[in-house]
Amino acid sequence: MSELTDLHSSISVCEKCGLCRGRTHAVPGEGPESPAIMFIGEGPGFYEDQQARPFVGPAGKFLEELLGVIGLDRSEVYITNVIKCRAPGNRDPLPEEIQACSGWLDRQIQLLKPKLVVTLGRYSMARFFSKQSISKVHGTSKKVDGQMVFAMYHPAAALHQQRLRDTLIEDVKKIPAILAKADQVPEEEHGPEQLSMF
Ligand code: URA
Repeated sequence: MSELTDLHSSISVCEKCGLCRGRTHAVPGEGPESPAIMFIGEGPGFYEDQQARPFVGPAGKFLEELLGVIGLDRSEVYITNVIKCRAPGNRDPLPEEIQACSGWLDRQIQLLKPKLVVTLGRYSMARFFSKQSISKVHGTSKKVDGQMVFAMYHPAAALHQQRLRDTLIEDVKKIPAILAKADQVPEEEHGPEQLSMF
């Protein structure tokens, strides 16, 4: 068994926070073991909890459309979430739940070593761009602790807002250029306005 498969198995039986009591399934993540890109969403919703797979509901459908814009299929990227179990009624994750789950995400990034992490929404963004507003940070990239990261809005936020849909489509188109230059980008310590170099 690979270390990633092992990790997925451990996540599936995790009891580090109370969300384990309400779940049907934990949703560890899925994708290749050495992906160029890793997408990190917020947490499983109803369909993900049922199927133990990330982004399989309406937001997932739109994510697949976005990937298609840059010629990618979801099987080519790794997809996971900040929290691995559904929060009741799809409420926002609590700080203690994010904290309890953070070790799993750290280990996933460590094992997968993606060239680029793409954050979807403010919860995954906050892990890399602390205390910044997603309206300012979306569409920008930076290198944090050696990891290239690009911030996008969450696809679910755009399901009923054409303006955000267009923004997500414009942002996803930046990914190929960021990926191509990821190795040459120096570590950055500036604000997001200065970070978008592509
Ligand atoms: N929204 C998320 O953030 N993650 C999923 O897996 C599905 C919907």
